[in-house]
Amino acid sequence: MINKEFKEELCINCGSCAVNCPMGLIQMTDFPKMAEGSEMMCNQCGHCEAICPEGAIGSANSEKSEYTPINPQEMGLHMKFRRSIRKYGDKHVEKEKLEEIFDIVRYAPSAGNGQPVQWIVFNDPDKVNEIAEASMESMREISKTDSPLNDMIPLASFVEAWENGMGTILREAPCLVVAHAPKDNMLSVGDGMIALTHLDLALPSFGLGGCWVGLFNIICNEDSELRDILGISPENNMIYPFMVGYPKYQYHRIPERNQPDITWK
Ligand SMILES: Cc1cc2nc3c(=O)[nH]c(=O)nc-3n(C[C@H](O)[C@H](O)[C@H](O)COP(=O)(O)O)c2cc1C
Repeated sequence: MINKEFKEELCINCGSCAVNCPMGLIQMTDFPKMAEGSEMMCNQCGHCEAICPEGAIGSANSEKSEYTPINPQEMGLHMKFRRSIRKYGDKHVEKEKLEEIFDIVRYAPSAGNGQPVQWIVFNDPDKVNEIAEASMESMREISKTDSPLNDMIPLASFVEAWENGMGTILREAPCLVVAHAPKDNMLSVGDGMIALTHLDLALPSFGLGGCWVGLFNIICNEDSELRDILGISPENNMIYPFMVGYPKYQYHRIPERNQPDITWK
């Protein structure tokens, strides 16, 4: 409610703003108002403004939007058909499309509405390839050491595959997205993974697809020079890299997955 115009003349005193405030900061007297001295605790989530049926909170131009949820069949198909894409077509990913997608992704939930996630986007296949080369170089160096990573991942085999012309690590993707966030936000890793999940889920609606890049993430965690190449500031942690592009192939079926392991109580 901070910095938001509050119009008593429109308020019908329904109390929905007070009941839904995550911090319980709105008191119902004659009209809802912020509890004395509680402004500092407001996390600016905007729920009071969004839930008010009369538009009594917020700026005059905040429009009422109608929304009917997607039906379960469509939602289920959308989520089950989403795939990790490992072969991309040559088509360039339009910057405007990415802007539109990030405009959706910015609505991902975050702890305390902290919204700490920042993005670096390499939307140039040559740059992505340079990054892949640098990570392979790093992998080659690590594969020659007695790093315990070699017991977990066959790094030497990945390097060999790369040398044989297989663009394994970043899959010759035309676009690489890196989520990062300030180190001093202890909750940002979860927030970043959630934001990336929203990105992953949004892409197919735009004809795009993507894939998390765990291997590249591991190598970046080992090699600070790689993080420098990505342009992540020393104050920030890399959260996860994610490839994006137009899928070269279409999936025709939904692969099987484990049944949910649920303990009902
Ligand atoms: C955190 C995370 C890291 C991943 N890292 C890689 C990776 O480095 N390379 C890759 O090809 N796929 C990677 N994947 C994709 C998984 O292999 C994929 O999600 C899984 O096989 C299921 O396939 P689906 O996403 O198409 O349902 C990763 C997925 C997640 C969630």
